[in-house]
Amino acid sequence: MIITIDGAVATGKSSVARGLALSLGYIFFDTGAMYRSLTYGLIKKNIDINNEKKLKAYLDTFDFDMKIKRGEKLYYVEGEDVTEIIRGLEVTQKVSDVAAIPIVREKLVEIQKELATGVNAVFEGRDMGTVVFPKADLKIFLTGRTEVRAERRLKELREKFPEMADELTPEAVLENLTKRDEIDTTRKVSPLKAANDAYIIDTSDLSCEDVVNRALECKDRHKRSL
Ligand code: DC
Repeated sequence: MIITIDGAVATGKSSVARGLALSLGYIFFDTGAMYRSLTYGLIKKNIDINNEKKLKAYLDTFDFDMKIKRGEKLYYVEGEDVTEIIRGLEVTQKVSDVAAIPIVREKLVEIQKELATGVNAVFEGRDMGTVVFPKADLKIFLTGRTEVRAERRLKELREKFPEMADELTPEAVLENLTKRDEIDTTRKVSPLKAANDAYIIDTSDLSCEDVVNRALECKDRHKRSL
């Protein structure tokens, strides 16, 4: 069984997908982490994303792996543990541009489809329900008011990068979030949008636990409607 969870930045996708997978005993895949890992690899190799030949050569040999250690999912690029660094500012600032490139998406979609073979899993991302798994058993789409999402993101970033407190102003975070929303929703390939058959949950005024419970209710309702 495949469950997809899509939605914009800071709608709580990862926490909800993780919580849902845990309560169902399913595997959880954070596909944003894959785009981030690839972006890190490109930065490290100093590859200009506008140089299609070099980008393609990198994609053909992209060496990516995931492992679970002490209950935590770790990400590897060419054997290097990149779990922490892919959440940093450098990768965060570049990842939307990388994710908008068609050949990048083709490569990662291929990996995602392989990962889904023969397993019960929750896949979280932007295009899981629309492009990667159009026949998913259950699709959830998370939304949230921009101001609430920006506030969540600010809190998250300040906790992660206390040394950058001065630069991390509410205005700067709101601007970055609005820009990422714009890139994710207007890009030509696989823009962020809800699948027609997705259940939509507005997470603005809900806790993660509330959203997981609503998703479980959707699963139950969906099963009964089939
Ligand atoms: O969810 P996140 O912030 O870690 O995602 C990082 C970037 O990758 C974000 O710009 C959207 C993009 N992404 C995507 O285009 N498709 C996915 N399935 C997952 C993430």
